[in-house]
Amino acid sequence: MKGISKELDRARKYVKEAGKEKKQEATPVFHLKAPVGWMNDPNGFSFYQGEYHLFYQYHPYSNKWGPMHWGHAKTRNFVEWEHLPVALAPDQEYDCDGCFSGSAIWDDNKHILAYTSVYIEKADGQASKVHQTQSIAVGDGFDYYKQENGPAISGNMLPKNSSRENFRDPKIWKENDKYYIIVGNRSEDGKGQILKFSSRNLQDWNYEGVLYQASKKIGCMWECPDYFKLNGRQILIFSPQDMQAEGLEYHCGNGSLYFVGREAEGRFLEESGGSLDYGIDFYAPQTVLTEDGRRILIAWMQSWDANIYPPELKWCGMMTFPRELFLEDQIIRQLPAGEIEAFWENEKRYEDVFVEGQVNLPDIRGRALDLTLRLRNMNCSVLEIRLAKRGNHYISIEYDTVRGIFTFDRKFSYCIRDVVNERKILLEPQGGVITMRILLDFYSVELFLNNGEKTLTSTFFMEDGNDEIEFLSFGGSFQMDLLKHDIKAL
Ligand code: FRU
Repeated sequence: MKGISKELDRARKYVKEAGKEKKQEATPVFHLKAPVGWMNDPNGFSFYQGEYHLFYQYHPYSNKWGPMHWGHAKTRNFVEWEHLPVALAPDQEYDCDGCFSGSAIWDDNKHILAYTSVYIEKADGQASKVHQTQSIAVGDGFDYYKQENGPAISGNMLPKNSSRENFRDPKIWKENDKYYIIVGNRSEDGKGQILKFSSRNLQDWNYEGVLYQASKKIGCMWECPDYFKLNGRQILIFSPQDMQAEGLEYHCGNGSLYFVGREAEGRFLEESGGSLDYGIDFYAPQTVLTEDGRRILIAWMQSWDANIYPPELKWCGMMTFPRELFLEDQIIRQLPAGEIEAFWENEKRYEDVFVEGQVNLPDIRGRALDLTLRLRNMNCSVLEIRLAKRGNHYISIEYDTVRGIFTFDRKFSYCIRDVVNERKILLEPQGGVITMRILLDFYSVELFLNNGEKTLTSTFFMEDGNDEIEFLSFGGSFQMDLLKHDIKAL
């Protein structure tokens, strides 16, 4: 397809105009959001001609999900993002109901996008059958053109027991001159699975079989797979829908999981795995390999079930701060991408702070900061850290030293919706110490516990002036070391 369609032109013009309006409210300092409108999953996170490109599921015209476009931004340092014109609009018969999630690669001089094209058959004006197919668009980092002959991979290539309606979110890569795509799918018996395809020319694709189906039921449809090597091991990431809670490892609803394993004869063999994040707002993560060989992950920092955005905001949806992945002892650890350090200012350090009752420390306050705590000598039954506090409003991080349970709670953050506000994690101190790195931005908190062994990500909505930080102990005392940096306003 050549030229810019009227749907794409309309979206680009709309964003340009609406995005100009003066900001009414505090916006995140170092988390990506769209200039206006609704954002969900990250898409096409890729390195192309010296920059990192990130696309995202986008409905520019309102702060609610609607016919999906691909929004587009790029960065060199994961902190400063440049917004680019909308990359894809639902403008073809086969994708008129949405350009759903997908991925991208840099191939020769071209930027190749793989996305799910959605078309809903209607009978008597009613939606009757969903068709999800996989399509390719080729671009130059700015404009993208869909392949002339329509979807590259369609439902009729699938075996009978694989859903054609729940068949989405292609992850593309190239290996030894061959292209591969894996796609999330639901099998006839209601299990999630990942299907694999290959091609020599991006036009003609072959079905290669089921890459992976879990031995036990994990939700139903598996969305947004990613597949890559880390430390010589094969990693599979995916986001199941309709999960049931399991201990404190999985919560109900949509989750994001990883498995560590290896591939043999076209099948992924799982060895270990777990949740990628234990917070309320983390979904559909995907990764990019940096120029210097780091594996960086970004996720939609929101959830489908517990969305608490104030309806008056003209935008809805943010991305997590990009995180570097490390694999040690079959466990993935995550830490904020090191680039953030170039944006640190106002360093403040405290050592051996003794907390019994309530402690507030001079200069330890703010709403856009990177704070590391080392909690030790925990001779109390419970300790608590209150962030973004003013009066009776705050978000709470609490550690129950007896049960080894760590609780995040946002219910006192002016929340007026009866949604999930709390999450719990099992967490053991390491050598008597718990380390906690807190990335706090206006509307979000990302916690990296025990050097990133577990992470917890959540949004909350409070005004600018809620910026105190308070440390509390109950039933005894604890000690801590603390290092704080503000993040420079961009
Ligand atoms: C995941 C998801 C994807 C789909 C997209 C639609 O959040 O449901 O499976 O492609 O969102 O916006």
